[in-house]
This record gives sequence, C-alpha cells and structure tokens, in this order.
Amino acid sequence: MIKRLWAKLGISSTPKASSLPADNVPQHVAIIMDGNGRWAKKRGLPRMAGHHSGMKTVKRITIAADRLGVKYLTLYAFSTENWKRPKAEVDFLMKLPQQFLDIELDELVANNVQVRMMGSRENLPSHTLSALEEAISKTAGNTGLVLNFALNYGSRMEMLDAVRGIAKDVRAGKLDIDAITDQVMSDRLLSGGMPDPDLLIRTSGELRLSNFMLWQLAYSELWFTDVYWPEFTEKHFYEAIGQYQQRARRYGGL
Ligand code: IPE
Ligand code: IPE
Ligand code: MG
Repeated sequence: MIKRLWAKLGISSTPKASSLPADNVPQHVAIIMDGNGRWAKKRGLPRMAGHHSGMKTVKRITIAADRLGVKYLTLYAFSTENWKRPKAEVDFLMKLPQQFLDIELDELVANNVQVRMMGSRENLPSHTLSALEEAISKTAGNTGLVLNFALNYGSRMEMLDAVRGIAKDVRAGKLDIDAITDQVMSDRLLSGGMPDPDLLIRTSGELRLSNFMLWQLAYSELWFTDVYWPEFTEKHFYEAIGQYQQRARRYGGL
C-alpha cells in the first residue's frame, strides 16, 4: 500500500540492508565522494564545513559496507588535480585523515578493518602521511573490510608509473614484451592485488570519472546520484547496491 503510494508520487522504495540478497554483494565498491563544497554553500557555510561533514559519511558508509560483506571499499579523497585548489582548502583537506583516524582508528582496529592508501606519498605533508602510516601498520594484520583511501591519487599518473616500470624491466631484459598482459599491468597499478571495482558510485550529480581508476573501471557498474556526499546515507548506499544486484554483467559476452 505504502509502496504503491510512493510509486504514484514517483518515489521509489529503497531497500533495507536486510532485504538485499546476500549472495550478490559487490566485492569491491569504489566511491567518488563529491559535492562537499556545494553542500556547504547551499547552507551558507564555508566549504570546509562540507569537508568536515563528509567525514561522518565516510564513517557511516564504512560501517554499512562492512556489515553488508563488501570486501574492499575505495574512497576517492584527494586527486592529483585537487592541488589546484586554494592553499587554505588544500591544507584543511590534508588535516582530515589525521582528524578522522584520531577519532576512528580504535574502532577500525576493533572491527578488523584494514586501512590502505592508494596514491603518491610525494608532496603529502608529514602529519598526513604519519597518521595514515600509523593506521596502515596498526591494521595491517586485520582480515576484514579493506578501507582503501585514494589520496593524492590520479589514474594517469598511476598508469604512467606502471608503464615506466614495465619499460625499465624490458630494457633490463627482465620482462619479455610478449609477457606484458592485462594482469601484468593490473599488478603494477597502485591497486595491485585488489580486484577491480564491481561498482562505482559518484555523488553530487557529476557524470564523469575525474581521473579515477580508468584502467580498473573498464567493466565496473556505474551508479550516480545527485545527492551531495555529506547527505549521502546508508539508504542511498543500499539503493546503489540493490540496483547493482539487478544488473546483468556481460563483459562483452552474451
Ligand atoms: C569532494 O567535494 C571532496 C574533494 C574533491 C576533496 P568537493 O570539494 O569537490 O565539493 P564540490 O564538488 O565543490 O561541491
Ligand atoms: C573528484 O572530485 C576528486 C575527489 C572526489 C577526491 P572533483 O570535485 O575534484 O572533480 P571535478 O573537478 O569536479 O571533476
Ligand atoms: Mg567536486
């Protein structure tokens, strides 16, 4: 009855976690967390308030992903292009990992979450890097959800580095040109060892990849929402997973 009323009003009923089939949960979910600035602007707040609020969403979605049985959650937190922003905003963003981990690290450890970082360590302030390194080492032995922060990450940079490494090995006679396969390339990316994302979510209504995992997303299912990251909730996450579960992945076959 309520469902029919919702349908009439054009509101789709969103699944609860418990109503999602347990056998088809994406193994790897990647999220472009976008819209912090616009969320703040809409409320007459400084952009930094949006970034601060977005941290709470990170926590909520990490817990939700873990409970659903997602194995890898990759979150795009700072791109290699985000250095173009005003220094004050960059400085603020670089303080967030430390702030987040100061509050959440114990709980991540207790919940068997393994923290990883995917990005260039170059140019990162030492306080940002040391907070992350601490989290990475304290959780290295954990076997639950892998929480992978894409920080100072750019897909083209990552692919160029991989290609340079391959070229060097070929020149040194360590790698045969014919042995350069999909798998060799995948292994040399910063995501090496992780499966490709099954599902990519981007918030805030932007319909682009912004230099995120261009190789790894070749056959990922894409899901976009107009909702800004600070207002993205478990409900939206389950909606994305529910839609993913209804899609037929063909990988070019039939
Ligand atoms: C996403 O929010 C966070 C980062 C890119 C660091 P934005 O800061 O891009 O927010 P909008 O897109 O300007 O609203
Ligand atoms: C992508 O968002 C990067 C992150 C979410 C960290 P941007 O806000 O930087 O992307 P563009 O500039 O709108 O493409
Ligand atoms: Mg943005």
